[in-house]
Amino acid sequence: MSKLLKKITIIKPDDWHVHLRDNEILKKVSQYTGKFYKRAIIMPNLDQPITNCFRSISYRRRILNSMKSNTQFQPLMICYLTEKTSPKELKQGFSEKIFVGAKLYPNYSTTNSKYGVKNIKDIYHLLKIMEKIKMPLLIHGEEIDPNIDIYDREAKFIENTLKPLRKKFPELKIILEHVTTEEAVSYIEESDSIYLAGTITPHHLMLNRNNMFINGIQPYLYCLPILKRKKHQIALRTVISSGSKHFFLGSDTAPHFHKNKIDVFGCAGIFNAPSSLLCYVSVFEKMNSLKHLQSFCSENGPNFYNMPINKETITLVKKPHKILKKIDIGNNVIVPFLAGEKLDWSIET
Ligand code: DOR
Ligand code: ZN
Repeated sequence: MSKLLKKITIIKPDDWHVHLRDNEILKKVSQYTGKFYKRAIIMPNLDQPITNCFRSISYRRRILNSMKSNTQFQPLMICYLTEKTSPKELKQGFSEKIFVGAKLYPNYSTTNSKYGVKNIKDIYHLLKIMEKIKMPLLIHGEEIDPNIDIYDREAKFIENTLKPLRKKFPELKIILEHVTTEEAVSYIEESDSIYLAGTITPHHLMLNRNNMFINGIQPYLYCLPILKRKKHQIALRTVISSGSKHFFLGSDTAPHFHKNKIDVFGCAGIFNAPSSLLCYVSVFEKMNSLKHLQSFCSENGPNFYNMPINKETITLVKKPHKILKKIDIGNNVIVPFLAGEKLDWSIET
C-alpha cells in the first residue's frame, strides 16, 4: 500500500456477496461489480433459484455475456440448498468447480427464500457431506420464528441454530453473511478463523436503524438483516478497523426496481454496487485504519475460501465522486445506495 495519504493502491478486491439477478437487470447492473472487483460470489436466490449444476452453468454464462468489455471478471457460483438438494449433485458441483459453496436460506427469511430450509436438521445429511469435502456453507443467519423480534433474529440464530450446528459439524467451513450485531462479531472473533468467518456490508457499517426513519420512512434503507442499533454499527466498525482476519468484504448489493422498493410490500435490498468499494474506503479512513483496508477487501476472503489472492491492483484517490441518481431499465428504474450524493473517494481511471 502506498504511503501517500491521498492515494491508496491495494490488491484488486473481491466481493464475497453479490446479487446480480437475471435478464434485463443483470445486463445493466453487472458492470458495476465488474468495475471494482475481480471476483464475486453470486447469490443463487433468483425467482427460479440456482439449485443444480445445469442452472448454475447457464446462469454463469449469462453473467459473463453481460460483462461486455470486462473479460477478467470471475463469477463464483453458489448452490441454493433445499431439503431436496441432491447429494450427488452437490458433490459433483463442488468437485468440478461449478459451485464454490452452498447457501442456506432459512425458509421465508428474505427475498426468494420460499424454497429455503424450514428445519435445519432436514439438511444435516448435506452438511455432513460438505464438511467432508470442505465445501463452504454460506448462511443467511436469522431465525424465522415470527415471535422473535426482528432486531434479535441474528443473535438468536447464533444461539439456537449456529452453535448446535457447529458442534455437530466442527470442521464445516461457514461464512455468516452480512453480519449486523455485536453478538455476531464476538462469536466470530472467538471462533477458529479456519472454520468461521463473517462478511460485512457497507450499509451496515455506515448506518444504523435511526437512518431508516429520518424524514419519514426510507424504503431505500430497508434490507435484511435490518439495520440495527448504533452500538452494533460501532461493533462492526471497530472490528474491521482492528485488522481482524475473521471478516471480509461482502457488499450484499441487491438491486430491486424502484416500484418494488416503494410498494406497500416493499422489497428488502440495497443496490450499492456503484459505490460499495468507495464506501468501505471512507469508513476505514474515518476509523483511521486505512492500513487494514487491503486485508479486509482483498486478502481475508481468498484466504478463507482457499483461493489465490489477485495479482491486479486498484488505486483509490481522495477526490469527490458523485454517485449516479438512477439506472434506467426499460420503463423501470433502479436507484442506487446514496443516489446523487458525494463520496470522498474515487477510483483512479
Ligand atoms: O436485503 C436483502 N436483500 N437481504 C437479503 O438477504 C437478500 C437480498 C435480496 O436478494 O434482495
Ligand atoms: Zn444477500
